[in-house]
Amino acid sequence: MSTVLLAGATGYLGRFIAQELFSRGMPARLLTRDLSRVAGLDRGTAEIVHAEVTRRDTLRGTMEGVDVVVSTVGITRQQDGLTYMDVDYGANRNLLEEALGAGVRRFVYVSVLHGETMRDLAICEAKERFVADLKASGMSYTVLRPSGFFNDLAALVRMARRGRVYVFGDGSVRANPIHGADLAAVCVDALEGDVPVIEVGGPDVLTQRDMAYLAFEALGRPPKITHIPPSVRRTALAMVRTCTPGRVHGPLAFFLTVAARDMVAPEAGFRRLRDYYRQIAARPPAAS
Ligand SMILES: NC(=O)c1ccc[n+]([C@@H]2O[C@H](COP(=O)([O-])OP(=O)(O)OC[C@H]3O[C@@H](n4cnc5c(N)ncnc54)[C@H](OP(=O)(O)O)[C@@H]3O)[C@@H](O)[C@H]2O)c1
Repeated sequence: MSTVLLAGATGYLGRFIAQELFSRGMPARLLTRDLSRVAGLDRGTAEIVHAEVTRRDTLRGTMEGVDVVVSTVGITRQQDGLTYMDVDYGANRNLLEEALGAGVRRFVYVSVLHGETMRDLAICEAKERFVADLKASGMSYTVLRPSGFFNDLAALVRMARRGRVYVFGDGSVRANPIHGADLAAVCVDALEGDVPVIEVGGPDVLTQRDMAYLAFEALGRPPKITHIPPSVRRTALAMVRTCTPGRVHGPLAFFLTVAARDMVAPEAGFRRLRDYYRQIAARPPAAS
């Protein structure tokens, strides 16, 4: 059985991958920059290794005996003063170089659906640059391209709780987001495969309007939906790019871009957004 090094175990998806490795009894090493953050993980006998992925020297020796590296490392909400090029590209490049030096057999990397066609966004440019290096490295690899994560859509329940959900245009843009646990299963299946690219989404293809209705339904409230004209989205996109620092415009520009295009990928998993919304609606407002 392969020994797996997981970089990103403290994140939303990484935590589910750690659990999936544990539940399948796979030998694992979890790499983290903060040992206290892995303390609560359901990780069985997984070994914990401390390193700063943005500093190549700290990775030395961490991959001895490792067969496959999985990386979910990337900036989502972190505010470390680093750029996507430092982390989504640079840190993953460091992991790849260490893996090549240590004789690792395979590398599984989590990117974004349609990232290749959104390279005008700093996050996608950094991720795709890493994908290009990974392809050129000669190592066996899989790039996972998920459509979107359930946790990113919890914002709709928060909006519904405040009384109104805003959708772009007529709300007809479609996506099939996936639960972290379902994506983790796809990711761990990919450890032994040899498919270079896996585009993947969840079991339900939903419009933005559908998602807004599900958020209100979960709270047991009548829907109140406001449509934001497409011109407002375009103006906001242009303004955030020119008027805000990178740490603000990076995530916002990504959000405003994917909000206007279908993000539908081949379906996997069985967890439904309706159930996820019911779970978070049942929690106290501060916890959702
Ligand atoms: N639509 C999509 O396809 C989609 C949607 C969401 C995410 N994604 C991508 O999927 C990947 C995983 O997402 P996620 O939601 O699990 O993200 P997440 O919760 O933010 O986890 C990201 C991981 O990267 C690590 N990381 C970030 N910056 C770091 C730094 N400077 N130094 C060391 N480690 C750092 C984090 O460590 P700490 O916990 O220590 O910060 C964490 O373990 C990301 O690359 C994300 O861009 C794709």
